[in-house]
Amino acid sequence: METILIVDDEKNYLVVLNALLAAEGYEILTTNNALDGLRLVKEGDLDLIITDMKMPGMNGMALLEECKKVKPDLPIIIMTAYGTIEKAVEAMKKNAYDYISKPFQNDQLKLTVKKALKNYTLIKENKLLSEALLYRFRFGNIIGKSKPMLKIYELITKLSQTKASILISGPSGTGKNLIAKAIHYNGPRKKRPFISVNCGALTETLLESELFGHEKGAFTGAVALKKGRFELADEGTLFLDEVGEMSPQLQVKMLRVLQDKEFERVGGTKSIKVDVRILSASNRNIKAEVANGLFREDLFYRLNVIQLEVPALKDRIEDLPLLIDHFIEKIGGKSRKKIILSQEVKKVLFNYSWPGNIRELENVIEHALGLSSKNIITLEDLPGHLLDNGIINKTLPEALEQLEEKLIRKALDYSNNVKSQAADMLGISRHLMHYKMKKYGILIS
Ligand SMILES: Nc1ncnc2c1ncn2[C@@H]1O[C@H](COP(=O)(O)OP(=O)(O)OP(=O)(O)O)[C@@H](O)[C@H]1O
Ligand SMILES: [Mg+2]
Repeated sequence: METILIVDDEKNYLVVLNALLAAEGYEILTTNNALDGLRLVKEGDLDLIITDMKMPGMNGMALLEECKKVKPDLPIIIMTAYGTIEKAVEAMKKNAYDYISKPFQNDQLKLTVKKALKNYTLIKENKLLSEALLYRFRFGNIIGKSKPMLKIYELITKLSQTKASILISGPSGTGKNLIAKAIHYNGPRKKRPFISVNCGALTETLLESELFGHEKGAFTGAVALKKGRFELADEGTLFLDEVGEMSPQLQVKMLRVLQDKEFERVGGTKSIKVDVRILSASNRNIKAEVANGLFREDLFYRLNVIQLEVPALKDRIEDLPLLIDHFIEKIGGKSRKKIILSQEVKKVLFNYSWPGNIRELENVIEHALGLSSKNIITLEDLPGHLLDNGIINKTLPEALEQLEEKLIRKALDYSNNVKSQAADMLGISRHLMHYKMKKYGILIS
C-alpha cells in the first residue's frame, strides 16, 4: 500500500484530504507543521507528499527544498491558495511534481495523486534496473557485457568460493591478471595475501629462490634468510603468471609442492607446510605444449583442475564501446569534457584485429587522448599502425574500388593517357574503361 503524507496547518484540509485519499486505498499520514513533516520524510518510507504552501514556521517551499535534499526522487505536490500562481511556478522550478490550487476539484486531485505515484514507481524501477545493469556490465574492474564475459563473471563468482586450482588462458592483454585478482578478492581468502610471481621474467635459479625462498648462505649472495612467495602466500593465493615459461626442472619441484603441500627453502632441510590456493595464467596453449613435450602433463593437470579461457577482444567486439568509455574516463578523468569518437574512428576501431587486445586498446585511447585537443577523437589522433592496414578499415567493396581506381590511374599514366592502350593493359574493354573513368571522376586532357 502506498503511503501519502499530508502537511497543512488548516485542520479542515487535513480531514478532507485524509478522507478522500484513504477511500482510494492509500495509507495516510497527516501533520499540521512542516518540521514534523520533514522528520517523517527522513524516518519513514513515504511515496508522496502533499503540502500546503503558506504555513507558520517552516513553509511549503522550505519543506520542498529540504525534502529534495534527502529524497530527491520522492514526489511532492504543492497546494497553493487561488491566485498565487507565482509561488506554484517557483515550486515547479524546485522540482515539485505538480501543484493544485485550493479549493481543488476532488477528481482532479485524485488523478494528480495517482499520476505522481505511478511516476515514482517508474523512477524506482528504473533505478533498480540500471543498478542491476551496471552490475552486470562489470565485475570489479573488469568491464564487458558480451556473452563470454558474463559467463566469466559467473565463473569467477562460483570459483572464488572454492580452492580449486585454475589455469586462466587466453591471448596477451585480455585481462588474465585482472581475473586472477577478482577470483582472490571475491573469495574467503580475500583478507590474506594475493601474491603474484611472473615465471617468465626471472632466470631459473632466481625464480626458484623467489618461489621457495632460501636459507642464509645457500649460495653466493644469499646473505640472509629469505622467505619465498609460497610462504608469503600462506592462507592466501599464489598467482603463477606466465606459467608456461617455467623450466622443466622447476616444473618437477612445483609438482612436488602441489602434491605434498610442503617444500624446503633453497639450501634448507626443514619442511615448510603451506596452505596456498594456486591460480596460474598463460597466453600460450599449454595443452599443446604438453603434447609437444614442453610442459609436464602431470603438472598441467594439477594446475588446470578448472580452465578459464578468456576470449580475444576481436571475439567479443561488442564490448568495445563500454571499454572505450571506461578508458576515456580512467585516463582522462571524470572531470574532463565528454569525449566522443568520430564515425571513421569508430569504424577503424571496430574493424581492427586487436592483436594486443585490451592492453592495446588502453594504449590506443591514451595515445588518442594525448593528441586530441578537441573533445572529438578523429583519425589523425589514432596511432599510425591502425590506419596503415588500409584495407582493414574498409569494407571489401570499398577496398576493391580504391584499388581499381589506383590501377586505372596508373595504366593511364603508363600509356600517356591513351585510353585504349590503358584499357588493353588492364584487360578490359574500351567501353568499360570509359565507364570506370567516369565513375571515379578521372579526367584526361
Ligand atoms: N575486461 C577488462 N576491463 C577493463 N580493463 C581490462 C579488461 N581486461 C584487461 N584490462 C586491462 O588491460 C590491461 C591488460 O590486462 P592484463 O594484464 O590482465 O592482461 P593479461 O591477459 O594478463 O595479459 P598478458 O598475457 O600479456 O600477461 C590491464 O591494464 C587491465 O587492467
Ligand atoms: Mg598477465
